[in-house]
Amino acid sequence: MVGAVLMVLILCLQIFKMFRGFPSSYKGNKLPPGLRWSFPLIGHLYLFKGDPIGVFMKLSQTFGGMFLINFGPSTAAIILDPDFIDQAIKEDAIPSRPLKEMESQALIRGKRNPDGSLPGIAFSDGVIWREQRKFAFQQLVNLGFGQNSSIEEVIRSESEDMIRMLKVKSEDGAISYVFTPNDFIRHALNVVWHFVSGNESPISDELLLAAKDFMKSQSPGFLSTLQLYSPTLLRLTAALGQRNMLTSRRKVDEMINQQIADHKESFDPLHVRDFIDAYLLKIRETKNPESSFYQESGEVNMRNSMFDLFIAGLDTTATTLSWAMVYMMRWPQIQTKVQEEIDRVIGDVVPSLKHRALTPYVEATLLEIQRMACIVPWLPRATVEDVVIGPYAIPKNTHVLCIIKNVTHNPSIFPQPQQFKPERFLSADGTKFEKGDRVVTFGMGKRKCPGENMARMELYMFFVSIMQNFTIESVCDPEEIPLRGNLGLVDEPQPCEARIQTRCR
Ligand code: HEM
Repeated sequence: MVGAVLMVLILCLQIFKMFRGFPSSYKGNKLPPGLRWSFPLIGHLYLFKGDPIGVFMKLSQTFGGMFLINFGPSTAAIILDPDFIDQAIKEDAIPSRPLKEMESQALIRGKRNPDGSLPGIAFSDGVIWREQRKFAFQQLVNLGFGQNSSIEEVIRSESEDMIRMLKVKSEDGAISYVFTPNDFIRHALNVVWHFVSGNESPISDELLLAAKDFMKSQSPGFLSTLQLYSPTLLRLTAALGQRNMLTSRRKVDEMINQQIADHKESFDPLHVRDFIDAYLLKIRETKNPESSFYQESGEVNMRNSMFDLFIAGLDTTATTLSWAMVYMMRWPQIQTKVQEEIDRVIGDVVPSLKHRALTPYVEATLLEIQRMACIVPWLPRATVEDVVIGPYAIPKNTHVLCIIKNVTHNPSIFPQPQQFKPERFLSADGTKFEKGDRVVTFGMGKRKCPGENMARMELYMFFVSIMQNFTIESVCDPEEIPLRGNLGLVDEPQPCEARIQTRCR
């Protein structure tokens, strides 16, 4: 009898432990406050099915600029306060990626480095991350995304292709058309693919489909988010035949492997054509077995770095462009001003990057598009040791989400943040573009996006070409255009009906 009572008591205690909230201190330091009750296994992940940023904003009214939630089985510190974000990132207190997410990524990537870190750039850590990131960054500069860009030609040819495609869609000005990031993905992908593989012909439909499939597997939704943080669930859903990150990654890998095999056959160390050639040369030159470029380890890191550049570079630029279309429809008077500047400065000439310095209003509009859209609204990071941020302690290995959207949409930094105002980034007399340091949409600190230059070039060329050739009009009342996105890997606009009018100039 006593034994049975004891069993029931222990069971109740276990259940209570599973549901209870967070302790208030850690090693004598205050922990951030947090939600009181949580579900076993899924924690507070149910918050992710609606508008997580809106939910975080609401929670911050109760808990302040930093609080804890349970991200599935692991605890996460959510940081909204811009000063705390600055402190966390600038002091390099959270250089790593979330541990649970890395476990899922380890499955997706299939192999770890000898030091236990993941291969590639976006999810690697420590020395290997520094080596891989530095190398990719150098190649982005060497192969044409630095100051004197040779890749401009590739972007220009993609812009022309995009315009041809939109012309077909605008043939009957009365037809309404639904813009989605899909309209731009092929062009963004061609630019990255050219950088990685040197391939001048457009990517195959097969690769495009595989990449889109991978992006779709991370689409908004409770199950996708949960799989990102639960390797077991990821494995289980793949075994049950459900398409997910694991299965769709395999298809992209096949194409990457094919490219590497082709490059090995035609490799000439004196003529480095692209990222793969540069990487093969680096592997050949590396004699230090500790290096992440050494032999087999180098091959694994090469495949994963390619994958990271490829995936990070495709949805981001395409989604920003589709937000650009939404904002131009929502604020047509700004679209008119953009077109006036393009007509005055560029005229009928094919746009080029040298026009950037001469078109401050276009540059200010592009920055405002990025601020408003903030398509990657948070930075997923983790602590590698105990740290103190603001008044709170954050223990080692804690998942941290820095909500940068609360920087780009903070009224104390950008007054009336929901208003689209390119003038924020212009000098008082409106003649000079003034870059806003707090538009942190490419991230911050040492993990800041290495593709920023490439993305800015693409955005300028693609956006100017569209505005030069078309007027994009909303089919419904512009005031009714939804400005809230669907958050998956990036925050996508909701499909929006448009009328594409060819401009007569
Ligand atoms: C509008 C376009 C883009 C936006 C808004 C964007 C934004 C971001 C953000 C917010 C991060 C996370 C930074 C952090 O954790 O602090 C990131 C990382 C990254 N981005 Fe981008 N990105 C864009 C385009 C690109 C392009 C074109 C490429 C490649 C050619 C690229 C490659 C990467 C890589 C490899 C990382 C991982 C960096 C690391 O972990 O060290 N991105 N990006």
